[in-house]
Amino acid sequence: MKQTLKQLQQFKGVNRISMLTAYNCPIARSIEQAGIPIILVGDSVGMVEMGFSSTRDVTMEHMIYHIEGVRRGAPNTHIIGDLPHLSYESIDDAVTNAKRIIAAGADSVKLEGPYFDAVKAICAQGIEVVAHTGLTPQKATSFKKVGKDENEAQQIIEDSKKLIEAGAGMLVVEHVPAQLGAQISNELTVPVIGIGAGGETDGQVLVINDALGIGDYWPPFSKQYAHVSDTVLKVATQFKDEVQHKQFP
Ligand code: KIV
Ligand code: NA
Repeated sequence: MKQTLKQLQQFKGVNRISMLTAYNCPIARSIEQAGIPIILVGDSVGMVEMGFSSTRDVTMEHMIYHIEGVRRGAPNTHIIGDLPHLSYESIDDAVTNAKRIIAAGADSVKLEGPYFDAVKAICAQGIEVVAHTGLTPQKATSFKKVGKDENEAQQIIEDSKKLIEAGAGMLVVEHVPAQLGAQISNELTVPVIGIGAGGETDGQVLVINDALGIGDYWPPFSKQYAHVSDTVLKVATQFKDEVQHKQFP
């Protein structure tokens, strides 16, 4: 059954939390069937589905379209919807756009970086917020691991704590050293979901296209549980040949 962030918080220290991204209805349906408690409609959609070279090209309209489809496929799963680049620079925009993400079918919204006042303002509307620290692709100029030096690590810890104090109910931490992922998880009272953040976070999130092996590049910290792009190639090639040789239909 669909749970709130508040309810999902009870898993911390009890059960490891799994989260997958999804961008469309049938994939969301399968993820729900598998019993994954949280689906993230990430702005990664821009890169892994739309062919953009960064998530900065993703708009509110894109996010709404994808969230609506995912909700139709997963009516009973907690859905986090990403607030896209530049959609929460002002408090007014943050609140307005968070409401639009929820209206599209998400249960909570996620935003990147130290936007403490935006988190506060969104929470004040009764909307649950997921924070995102470590590598934050909307602002990052490279996809390299962050938090390797002590100052950077301290800043990430401090930002993470302040985001939770501002009201965020969960944290995603991306591409940091395993030891930093572990430390943040230990120091925060809410679940910390890692991606490329080592094995000691409260949970793990993977981009579904990476897990399925869809595409032609996958981050080194991801895992390909299947090779779906290979399957598509095989199917398309076989179909072409069968049509050519009148074997189909
Ligand atoms: O957009 C996304 O898929 C994300 C995950 C990498 C956490 O934000
Ligand atoms: Na994202």
